[in-house]
Amino acid sequence: MRGIILAGGSGARLRPLTNVHSKQLLPVYDKPMVYYPLALLMQAGIREVLVISTPQHLGLYRELLGDGSRLGITLEYAVQEAPEGLAQALLIGRGFIGSGAVCLVLGDNIFYGHRLPDLLRAEAERLDGCTLFGYPVGDPERYGVAEVDGDGAIVGLVEKPSRPSSNLAVTGLYMYGNEAVDRAAELAPSARGELEITDLNLTFVRENRARLVNLGRGCAWFDTGTHDSLLEASLFVQLLEKRQGIRISCLEEVAYRMGYISREQLALAGKELSDSSGYGRYVLALADA
Ligand code: DAU
Repeated sequence: MRGIILAGGSGARLRPLTNVHSKQLLPVYDKPMVYYPLALLMQAGIREVLVISTPQHLGLYRELLGDGSRLGITLEYAVQEAPEGLAQALLIGRGFIGSGAVCLVLGDNIFYGHRLPDLLRAEAERLDGCTLFGYPVGDPERYGVAEVDGDGAIVGLVEKPSRPSSNLAVTGLYMYGNEAVDRAAELAPSARGELEITDLNLTFVRENRARLVNLGRGCAWFDTGTHDSLLEASLFVQLLEKRQGIRISCLEEVAYRMGYISREQLALAGKELSDSSGYGRYVLALADA
């Protein structure tokens, strides 16, 4: 399975923070936002990742993350000319996806939970059609919302419903079999001119081939689309990191623990980060442990 991080869009809700900067590069406590979805994909065992962003910002991602070799992964880059919808990521990534399955994650979604990596690996194994990840929230009207039957199977999906039928938000993490690419190509743009991810997912729901995994308790999920949620995500990361003396979504650590890079490569990465940053010292200490 290959991974795609969609990190484009206009960032309109976060202006003026996003007047000149890419939203998914804004800081979430001690690291750029895009580190979190990338770490998630890496922990799920995905080592080939395509980063999609705007013509204006794509170069910044390339500068920040490079070709991935430092992390023992392969990173490729592609432009989304205009924010024409989340499902367009599959069309932009068509050549990159090839004939395999794909895991799409939105660059502004942050997930945390110790059982998540295992869960994602297991879901990738059993994927048939599409797999969505739900999360119970207090404000479902802000998200895509899944309607589930008594057994928890998805019977409906509605994008930002004014009267949500459940409190289960569909998070910005999606796994698809290869057929999703052709389905995305057949979607008609919505009233706002976008290829909607919810429309793509509905094609699977109608065939009973959409699976919903409720992340629920024991897992944290943030969509950093507003100033408040951006701050809350930072505070969450700060709290956990300070309390436990660890770093969340430290790419170098993930690469090392997943066996993508050696201890020597980890030490080198730590040196490059410099020991004047706490993050750099953390990486160096890991390599010394
Ligand atoms: O975060 C989860 C939610 O993400 C889901 O519950 C919704 O079903 C899904 O539609 C999406 O809702 P948002 O309101 O967050 O979508 P938004 O248009 O804000 O786009 C999400 C991110 O993707 C945002 O960081 C911008 C980026 N984006 C968006 C579009 C439309 C792109 O990179 N390209 C695009 O064309």
